[in-house]
Amino acid sequence: MKTLSTFAPVALEHASRLINHGPTILVTSSDAKRRNVMAAAWSMPVEFTPPRIAVVIDKRTFTRELINASGTFGVIIPGAAALDLTYAVGSVSGREIDKFERFGIAAVAGPKLGLPLLEAGCSAWMECRLIPEPHTEDAYDTCFGEVIAAAADPRAFRHGHWELDSSNADLHTIHHLGAGNFVRAGDTIKARELP
Ligand SMILES: Cc1cc2nc3c(=O)[nH]c(=O)nc-3n(C[C@H](O)[C@H](O)[C@H](O)COP(=O)(O)O)c2cc1C
Repeated sequence: MKTLSTFAPVALEHASRLINHGPTILVTSSDAKRRNVMAAAWSMPVEFTPPRIAVVIDKRTFTRELINASGTFGVIIPGAAALDLTYAVGSVSGREIDKFERFGIAAVAGPKLGLPLLEAGCSAWMECRLIPEPHTEDAYDTCFGEVIAAAADPRAFRHGHWELDSSNADLHTIHHLGAGNFVRAGDTIKARELP
């Protein structure tokens, strides 16, 4: 795994903004022998400081098995350029195959937890430590994590927020409508104060 990152660090107090608008994400996981990546549409921030997030990960997935074993997981925010890849890794389990090999995915090693992370075609990533909550994990498949490190492509996320415009359309986040249909984020509109 390469260790060189082309992304710029994101201050942890801004990590919540990476998923605040509900993008489809990739969840990566690994143990001593295996690694994996899946798609997840259901995630959200739950605390600014320390930065905490929640992700719904079905207990039947291979990802859950690796997260339970390692106590860590990675979150990648794919850009529109990684749309086909996102759908592909969300449509097959890594229990039988290494999706990184199958789909030719280049992984970089996370700086704090060594998790496999993706940068090509993607806009940002986070390394998370699982906050064990056996009840929510069991009853609702909801896994909480504390964000330990975060980084983003500075063309799309800078000064602590997304800056999406026509110059970086390939990096715009993707949002699943169902059945392989997505909308791409864009058209930023600024709220103005009412008179
Ligand atoms: C766009 C998309 C969004 C998905 N969202 C979720 C999700 O939020 N939670 C979940 O458990 N599975 C979700 N899935 C399904 C998993 O990605 C899928 O079950 C995957 O094959 C699990 O892989 P694994 O067994 O290698 O961990 C989604 C799939 C797609 C294509």
